[in-house]
Amino acid sequence: MAGMVYFDMIRFPKEFLWGAATSAHQVEGNNSGSDWWEWERLTGRERSGEACRHYELYERDFDLVKDLRHNAHRFSIEWARIEPEEGKFDPAALKHYLDVVSALRTRGIEPVATLHHFTNPSWFARDGGWENEKSSARFSCYCAFVVRALAGSVRYWITINEPSIYVSHSYLFGVWPPQKKSLWGTIKAEKNMIRAHLKAYRVIHGIYREAGIPKPAVSIAHHMIAVVPCKKNPKSRLAARLRRKIFNERYLDTLKRHQALDFIGVNYYSRQLADPRGWGPRSLVADICRENHHPVKKNALGWDIYPEGLYDILYRLAKYRLPVLIAENGICTNDDRERWEFLREHLKSVHRAMEDGLEVIGYLHWSLMDNFEWDKGFAPRFGLVEIDYGTQTRKIRESAKRYAEVCETGILA
Ligand code: FCB
Repeated sequence: MAGMVYFDMIRFPKEFLWGAATSAHQVEGNNSGSDWWEWERLTGRERSGEACRHYELYERDFDLVKDLRHNAHRFSIEWARIEPEEGKFDPAALKHYLDVVSALRTRGIEPVATLHHFTNPSWFARDGGWENEKSSARFSCYCAFVVRALAGSVRYWITINEPSIYVSHSYLFGVWPPQKKSLWGTIKAEKNMIRAHLKAYRVIHGIYREAGIPKPAVSIAHHMIAVVPCKKNPKSRLAARLRRKIFNERYLDTLKRHQALDFIGVNYYSRQLADPRGWGPRSLVADICRENHHPVKKNALGWDIYPEGLYDILYRLAKYRLPVLIAENGICTNDDRERWEFLREHLKSVHRAMEDGLEVIGYLHWSLMDNFEWDKGFAPRFGLVEIDYGTQTRKIRESAKRYAEVCETGILA
């Protein structure tokens, strides 16, 4: 019997990074110098307000992280706090993030620091945001300031979280600030974000080199979607291929060509069923099947739950010959059993890709705790830890305990 159990077990390597992720605006609270904060007020929508008060409660939250046996933690540094006015850096804000990193280190937790996670300082947004030609230089100035201070204690850097999602939601679909619907604006913002990463990549490496610190590992966190052709016809297949290229590979190809990726940060949530109605470019890249002839579970926001998709994506990443870090993967649900099932099935996909020979260095679940889900507000519950926003109490969910066993043993039973 013991033998059977042994063969059923899935084992991850000893040095694997296990943890969860958050972002500043979604958990810290009172992010009043940012464009999102201003936009929440202007549009009269649900406000981030105090969020999880993580800016004050981070030590207690990291005690939980430790109790949950995570050995890594992804968080983001808020540019609006660090540089509240152009060129004026706030030493108290910098000190805060130094404290955050040392609070992680003293608990034996590897920090994975993100420099941009959707929010910008208000001054930056008012002056054209990412459409402004100066945006990439502005971003790399801020990065230099932060990285100089943290170089000694952070090894993993994510420059920009999901540039493709940020640009499309903010400049093309018009759903996030600055709510533009402009193809030209989208093209400019995308170009500037790519430049921003390239500059930041060189700045970060330069700082480590000058200080004689062992090389950092720098990447973006790239949103990747599993694209599945809805029908077995050439039109659906072509659409799927095109979309994989446009959504998943284009950014990585560019960054790899510029030798500005040390690993690939992957954010994976869902799949898309490509079902183009015509042969035009719009149909080929955008038409989605809305019928239910492919029954699949959905999360509370209606996104397809598709663990096989993570394997498919990782399988296709092998050609880059770079280590991969799952920087986000998670589910919003009010049924915590679903969360564990989601986690387990996605971890199986990760392991399967590793058995094929892909180097995956870690898995960071989205999210450590329930938080402010952007334009969707506080209703979606993504946390391993439940937040009672009235009392700011934290409650560890059952799924978090099951995940803790995996983090501790490296074994998925
Ligand atoms: C990702 C974001 C993250 C969170 C999850 C649900 O696209 O990076 O901040 O909102 O989706």
